[in-house]
Amino acid sequence: MPGLTIGDTLPDLEVETTHGRIKLHDYVDNTFTIIFSHPGDFTPVCTTELGMMAAYADKFAERGVKLLGLSADDVQSHNQWIKDIEAYNNGHKVTYPIAADPNREIIKQLNMVDPDEKDSSGQQVPSRALHIVGPDKRIKLSFLYPASTGRNMDEVVRVLDSLQRASKHKIATPANWKPGEAVVISSSVSSDDAKEMFPQGYKTADLPSKKDYLRFTNVD
Ligand code: BEZ
Repeated sequence: MPGLTIGDTLPDLEVETTHGRIKLHDYVDNTFTIIFSHPGDFTPVCTTELGMMAAYADKFAERGVKLLGLSADDVQSHNQWIKDIEAYNNGHKVTYPIAADPNREIIKQLNMVDPDEKDSSGQQVPSRALHIVGPDKRIKLSFLYPASTGRNMDEVVRVLDSLQRASKHKIATPANWKPGEAVVISSSVSSDDAKEMFPQGYKTADLPSKKDYLRFTNVD
């Protein structure tokens, strides 16, 4: 069976976390939620990633986004590790819950298993997976990074800004887009509808094909 991916509904698992037991659908409620996994506690790259998430917590809160970390070890280990994460990352508090998965059941159901890495007891470990779940509880984006590469949290914020705009308007964001830059009008929108939907106006790129599919506008 293929693993959880874009468009799928997040399984409504009940997970043990540093903030107590959480049912995933209750936690998501009707917000965008980022669920991100880590290979293990007290490991170098993970310590920087969880700390960076703590440092970016205000940016996510401004966007109404919830965070849920996951690392394979148990809650007691997470609570000890959080002290290191906060100390290393200039005291930024880890205010989000971190789920435990000592039996590696959650990572299987959330498609977060590293295909190559195993721990010292031969169990599979989580990859650096990250799902953005929408208010409808469906997966909007999945990243899968190898254990050797820490993730770029600016990219996570940028994707959220794109997803949140695309959930409000019939637009998409072009390559290397950043907030404040022009977006493109979805191909499914006819020229007549585009005039009504985007009263601020739009510019059509002049292409050799003379087709009018690349239309730029600005939205908040
Ligand atoms: C790390 O966080 O540095 C790490 C964890 C597991 C495997 C490799 C690197």
